[in-house]
Amino acid sequence: MGYIDRANAKLDAVRDKDDVVILAIESSCDETAVAVTKGRELLSNVIASQIDIHKRFGGVVPEIASRNHTLAINGAVKEALAKADITLQDVDCIAVTYGAGLLGALLVGVSYAKALAFASDKPLLAVNHIKGHIAANYLAKPDLTPPYICLIASGGHTTIAYVKTLTDIEIKGATHDDACGEAFDKVARVLGLPYPGGPQIEKLAKEGKPSVDLPTPYKDKNTYDFSYSGIKTAVINYAHKCSQKGEELNRADLACSFQEKVTDIMVTNTIRCAVDMGVDTVVIAGGVGANSVLRAKMKQRAEENNLKVFYPPLILCTDNGAMIASQAYNMIKSGAKASDIDLDANANLKVFE
Ligand code: KG4
Ligand code: ZN
Repeated sequence: MGYIDRANAKLDAVRDKDDVVILAIESSCDETAVAVTKGRELLSNVIASQIDIHKRFGGVVPEIASRNHTLAINGAVKEALAKADITLQDVDCIAVTYGAGLLGALLVGVSYAKALAFASDKPLLAVNHIKGHIAANYLAKPDLTPPYICLIASGGHTTIAYVKTLTDIEIKGATHDDACGEAFDKVARVLGLPYPGGPQIEKLAKEGKPSVDLPTPYKDKNTYDFSYSGIKTAVINYAHKCSQKGEELNRADLACSFQEKVTDIMVTNTIRCAVDMGVDTVVIAGGVGANSVLRAKMKQRAEENNLKVFYPPLILCTDNGAMIASQAYNMIKSGAKASDIDLDANANLKVFE
């Protein structure tokens, strides 16, 4: 029996186990993240962040990210196993993010995971990063069950997903240009704030009022889609006009206005989609899901519409290995097959792939 047949036989043997042990690797952007889970229990969640390295460039530099993943990945795996108090022998399955993300960054995790799986003769599962973000919620709330509507708002995605089962997910709305987190990061740069911009804007906005009028994209259209380029341009134009007139820019008001506008749109679309689809729960995922204004608004509007709302703790919102392990668990339960040693990374992986 060759490697892949042994891997699938091993995967089949643990499908009904509730305490299956998964080692998961995530390297799609600027976090080298490794986690160990046992069933839905999180045993360790190591996140080696490169934020300080990329800060000086104002954003993630892909090649620098790949190199730093290469430096960090072995140590992160060792640390995750040690913190979980297990050895590689105890692991039933190795999971890895294979897309979407930065190609070179993804390849570090994929190549490492393939080598580890092959050398230890363990099954390998290829996990979709966005499905991972959604799955982070099952770790924090094991009784969460589909169907529900999930808003995924991150640096690379702004998507409304109709989660029908643990693995069957339909996209109902998406951005036509920038992702929401990307817009936060770009607006932060205009305001002279460091990368990543989201938390910085949130902090500055606390001191401001939503006094600047910004456009609402697709205002009269019956869509769940998003667009951030018009809002971003309006912010840039407002800042330029202030400087042309020699007026001092009220950065806090502009940050607050931007945050109010984008969170309003995300909440409106998500709640409308949930009502239209007849589900009773809305869920938030992704890095922008850490935003407290977004969380508070979603909670309020969900309650007004008799919807339950759930969002994961902050550490499970931004990129992490735990969410990849959680989706791998869903895949095992849903009968997924192991990946072979020719697994490739896919930078533009879609949610339905
Ligand atoms: O999910 P994530 O860690 O990585 C991607 O898959 O993209 O999301 C990172 C994004 C960044 O754009 C960052 O600015 C944004 O999430 N973010 C926030 C907050 N914390 C992180 N945006 C708004 N408010 C926050 N508190
Ligand atoms: Zn992400």
